Amino acid sequence: MKIAPFRGRDVRGHPPNADPLRALTPRGPMTRRPLLIVVLAAGQGTRMKSAAPKVLHKIGGRSMLAHVLGVVQELGADAVSVVIGPGMETVRAEALAQVPSAHVCVQPEPKGTADALGAAREALKRHAGDVLVLYADTPLLTAATLGRILAALDAGTGIAVLGFEPADPTGYGRLLSDGGRGLAAIREEKDATEAERALKLCNSGVMAFRLDNLLGVLDRIGNANAKGEFYLTDVVEIARADGVQATIVVCPEDEVLGVNGRDQLAAAEAVFQKRARARAMREGATLIAPETVWFSWDTKIGQDVVVEPNVFFGPGVTIDDGAEIKANSYMEQSHIGQGARVGPFARLRPGADVGPRARVGNFVELKNVTLREGAKANHLAYLGDADVGAGSNIGAGTIFCNYDGFQKHRTEIGEGVFVGSNSSLVAPVKIGAGAYIGSGSVITKNVSADALALERGSQEERPGWAAKFRAMMGKRKAKAG
Ligand code: UD1
Ligand code: CA
Repeated sequence: MKIAPFRGRDVRGHPPNADPLRALTPRGPMTRRPLLIVVLAAGQGTRMKSAAPKVLHKIGGRSMLAHVLGVVQELGADAVSVVIGPGMETVRAEALAQVPSAHVCVQPEPKGTADALGAAREALKRHAGDVLVLYADTPLLTAATLGRILAALDAGTGIAVLGFEPADPTGYGRLLSDGGRGLAAIREEKDATEAERALKLCNSGVMAFRLDNLLGVLDRIGNANAKGEFYLTDVVEIARADGVQATIVVCPEDEVLGVNGRDQLAAAEAVFQKRARARAMREGATLIAPETVWFSWDTKIGQDVVVEPNVFFGPGVTIDDGAEIKANSYMEQSHIGQGARVGPFARLRPGADVGPRARVGNFVELKNVTLREGAKANHLAYLGDADVGAGSNIGAGTIFCNYDGFQKHRTEIGEGVFVGSNSSLVAPVKIGAGAYIGSGSVITKNVSADALALERGSQEERPGWAAKFRAMMGKRKAKAG
């Protein structure tokens, strides 16, 4: 997504300053006040039991943090801060890869979500306008729902909290209503009474603030609670005591599933896949058994593509209109041209480019190879680091020997070439257009256009040999018996 500088006016009517952080897309005419989005990603994620930071665990082949920042970009903001833990350089890199203008802050110790937001103190001080806080472990949010939260601020509330009713509320904070439509407090499960725990409406973690002094409120939050943490959720009670209004915006559970453990990671993945399948079908692809097809966040699939059962699309796959992906195929960072047919049981590794109407059949592995229009490799082959000309036919059992243990080498095959079965093409090697390679050949030298290249022992024949042999063996057996 292209990020354009925001051209609005801030709360005081001043034009925005030239701060490079103010470099995200405008949110359209609806919103006027500048928006700072803070994404909290410093938690250790101990419940994941992982060497990797929690927010780098993936949904649909993309980290949870990148999912959240992707929605941030879709929504648009004037500034984005990401709060990470000390030494989380991989998280920093992921944040900056997604939003290069993001301000990454370090929370020295994971002392709770309020302390985490406090780590973005500099950005909060610099900013006069609305603040939206997101947790990086809530990857399924949509920009539309975030828009509703901001609209609640526009309607005059000081704090808007996104709530939901989970099937299983275990682990979530509960939203305590003030008896009317307002929110009185958020109670963490560990600190809740039995009656509070019985409440169904839970905190998603998404909160938006239109407060004169958010930092001042944060500084008043204590840690006298079950976890000994500074809870951001305490903002509600404190601000309400100051007369600030707090409201709840409700959304469906599947947008705000929080990921704390591997079970929830799998649950979030399931929601993601359901959405991706629905979208592919909405855009005109046929999925014969949708529940068995796995998409990545960036899979691009054209119209009238037919996907048979048990297909896995890793990241970076584009499929043009009318292509057919047959059962049990796996592909990543690959392009499949119009009307091409891939599988069953094909494996496309990074850099596979299957041209229009080309064919890739069972047990064929492609890596960094371009198959031009109408080329075919229908059975049992490995094609790596190569260019295969239009209409060429690669026979069963063909191997492109691209690696000598140290370096990779290329195989260049012209148009209309016929490579006989069980051939090895030892790269670097070039086969001229229209050439024939005899079956079983080990080709180490370039072959001229329209030539026949053969590399195998010449066949010998001994007439009647087999009959004589059988007769001799029969006699021996009779003697012995
Ligand atoms: C939090 C909410 C809970 C809500 C739930 C929704 C609080 C106190 N509780 O609980 O009400 O129902 O999310 O999923 O906010 N983080 C930091 N620094 C810290 C602690 C956390 O950056 O010191 C980050 C984490 O990386 C994570 C997010 O804040 O992205 C939430 O932290 P987590 O510990 O998962 O909170 P929950 O216990 O899930
Ligand atoms: Ca969480």
